[in-house]
Amino acid sequence: MNREQISAIAHTAHPVKAPLDDDSVRRLLDHGVPPGAERVLDLGCGTAAWLLRALTAHPGLRAEGVDTSADALALARRCAREQGVEDRLVLHRGDAADFTGPDTFDLVLSVGATHAFGGLLPTLAAARRHLAPGGRVLIGEGFWDGTPTPEAVGLLGDLADLPTTVERIAADGWVPVHGHISTRRELDAYEWSCWGTLAGWALDHPADPDSAQALATAAARRTEWLRGYRDAFGFLCLVLRPTAG
Ligand SMILES: C[S@@+](CC[C@H](N)C(=O)[O-])C[C@H]1O[C@@H](n2cnc3c(N)ncnc32)[C@H](O)[C@@H]1O
Repeated sequence: MNREQISAIAHTAHPVKAPLDDDSVRRLLDHGVPPGAERVLDLGCGTAAWLLRALTAHPGLRAEGVDTSADALALARRCAREQGVEDRLVLHRGDAADFTGPDTFDLVLSVGATHAFGGLLPTLAAARRHLAPGGRVLIGEGFWDGTPTPEAVGLLGDLADLPTTVERIAADGWVPVHGHISTRRELDAYEWSCWGTLAGWALDHPADPDSAQALATAAARRTEWLRGYRDAFGFLCLVLRPTAG
């Protein structure tokens, strides 16, 4: 079982691959989709959970998503068909940093995918290139909510603290017009959902050749979370408008 297969099972009950509950996602999209918006782009869209919600809530909207994962995009297509929005969704398989197209977008999303661009500010620079006049960016990024252990830095990379993260974004020419800091409940619910779902799958499929690996992976990832980063990891989503001029 490869990483993508593990991720697909782990996210069955939490299709948004970030520590946010449904209300938080809805509120962020409410603030992120400008009035009269026509086009939305998601860089690192995964299974397009954000785009599917935006398309369902806004019947006039068209969406494009970019991701390297063929499995995630296949699931996104299936969900789009089931939800009757497939004619308004275009999915591209490839590196989001290389994505080009003829259109600009009223909202550019990138949640939990800054590693694809080499960090937060390069992600915002990429988003800016795709932004229509009057458009907004919805960015989701981790931050240190405490002093990280070396193990946490090894697992999650070199993050900044919350004020520093927001200050860097503002200094880069963006105005936060809405934000959400994931609550402890959201952070914990996400981890329990992922590793509980994966463990449950293993128990439900004892004869599957991947069952033992899935159970061991769920336990290892749960330990990484509880011992490695639970006490120091936070997650921030911001709706941004570019600074005038
Ligand atoms: C944590 S998931 C977030 C998915 C989605 N934004 C969400 O919130 O549900 C990160 C995604 O980034 C994708 N990804 C990683 N590197 C990428 C790259 N270079 N170009 C495009 N997508 C990439 C992964 O395949 C994965 O789907």
